[in-house]
Amino acid sequence: MFESLRNIQNPFARSLTAALTACSVVTFASAIAIATTQTKGSSAYKTALYSALVGSGCGALFGLVCTENRKLKRLNHASQNTQSIEKEKAITWHDWRNFLVTRKVKESEEITSFYLQPEDQGEIPNFLPGQFLTIKLNIPGQTRPVIRTYSLSDYSESAGYYRLSVKREPMPSGLEVPPGLASNFLHDSIQEGSTIQAKPPSGRFVLNVEKTLPAVLISNGVGITPMISMAKAMTRLTPERLIWFVHGARDGQFHAFRDEVRAIAEQNPNLMIHYAYSRPRAEDAGHYHSVGYVDSNLIQSLVKQEAEYYLCGSPPFLESILTGLKNAGIPENQVFFEMFTKASKVTVDHVVETHFKGSVGESEVIFVKSNKTAFWNNELDNLLDFAEANNVEPPYSCRQGICGTCMCKILEGEVEYQAKPVTDIEPGSILICIARPKTSRVILDL
Ligand SMILES: Cc1cc2nc3c(=O)[nH]c(=O)nc-3n(C[C@H](O)[C@H](O)[C@H](O)COP(=O)(O)OP(=O)(O)OC[C@H]3O[C@@H](n4cnc5c(N)ncnc54)[C@H](O)[C@@H]3O)c2cc1C
Ligand code: FES
Repeated sequence: MFESLRNIQNPFARSLTAALTACSVVTFASAIAIATTQTKGSSAYKTALYSALVGSGCGALFGLVCTENRKLKRLNHASQNTQSIEKEKAITWHDWRNFLVTRKVKESEEITSFYLQPEDQGEIPNFLPGQFLTIKLNIPGQTRPVIRTYSLSDYSESAGYYRLSVKREPMPSGLEVPPGLASNFLHDSIQEGSTIQAKPPSGRFVLNVEKTLPAVLISNGVGITPMISMAKAMTRLTPERLIWFVHGARDGQFHAFRDEVRAIAEQNPNLMIHYAYSRPRAEDAGHYHSVGYVDSNLIQSLVKQEAEYYLCGSPPFLESILTGLKNAGIPENQVFFEMFTKASKVTVDHVVETHFKGSVGESEVIFVKSNKTAFWNNELDNLLDFAEANNVEPPYSCRQGICGTCMCKILEGEVEYQAKPVTDIEPGSILICIARPKTSRVILDL
């Protein structure tokens, strides 16, 4: 009862409710006392009346005191938040830190999880659900370290580990190119006890856990990784929030985290699951809800109310659902997505925001540290491709303006961005993976 009272926001309404409740309880108790003791006379009724009045007064006061409790609670909460932000700042690190792989777990036919704990056994900061780690691998035969980004696929406050879940990237069919460098190295050569270097958690594709609007988590393949983290965070922090967990896989063999999501749903009655298998096997019966791909028609048939949409998966999957949601009139500020691989050029409005309208046709680009000068003529997409074509090898990972790995200082000139950068850019720096020269001369600290 006290909890329901505390849930009334308006202090006057809360005070009135408490007063009326106390008055009713005292009146009822007095009536029972008068009836059972068979007391007669006006003094008994007067006592009952005064008791009801005193009870109402106490109730009204109690309602107001509850206000103070609520304020106190809010203040405590705010101060705890500030303390935890301060703590996170104190235990975070800059640049690279060594992590030990403490567990390696096969999650599906092509996805394996790696549990990482800091080699120095120090504390690690928590992260926002949806963020990623940038890791650096020294792969034999490579002239420089290979840097890649992987979403944090678990969520637990102060668990002391990070989990990354990596899909083995095969050679694309019909192309004579090597299979994925980092993912295959992780699967084949990184074992429990190996060391990996990582930067602190980062990324802006994050779930706002303060919100109450229903959340629709949509993924295919390895795009499930940030969704696990988001579903777990909501289950822990806002269990009253409605969640749809919609995931597409080829079949049960390629469906990672099925048991883990089931375990989350067992704790959270507000989590609704829909699995679409494109090529289900006989033994998958009972483990999926529809045959085919996850598309915007499926989403609209499941979600009938206003919601926020979080998407992660392959470029064609995202492009089709983003277009469908847009056509269905879902406001852009309620749709958030992350793409693990670079999108094709022809894409939906959500992805590409500007088309290098301001870029110059020709520009002299000077790579100061490499002591090289080259002439940009719009043949290549961006300054990262241009640097590589001129044998300058800057570090990179996502090539989409998400991770910040390619950030470098611009010493002279200006650039135009192909897409809105997703990561924070330090003053005086640019993300060369999504930039083109805007002035006739650009000097880069590379
Ligand atoms: C924010 C973010 C989060 C991510 N989270 C995850 C995650 O949780 N899990 C996950 O598995 N991945 C994730 N990724 C993707 C990940 O960062 C890597 O891109 C992925 O593992 C592939 O890297 P790789 O080194 O194995 O492949 P690469 O060596 O980069 O190759 C990629 C593909 O290109 C092919 N290829 C190689 N050479 C050529 C060529 N010359 N021409 C054409 N094709 C070629 C390869 O065969 C391979 O299929 C994420 C990416 C981003 C940006
Ligand atoms: S490589 Fe990730 S932002 Fe440029």
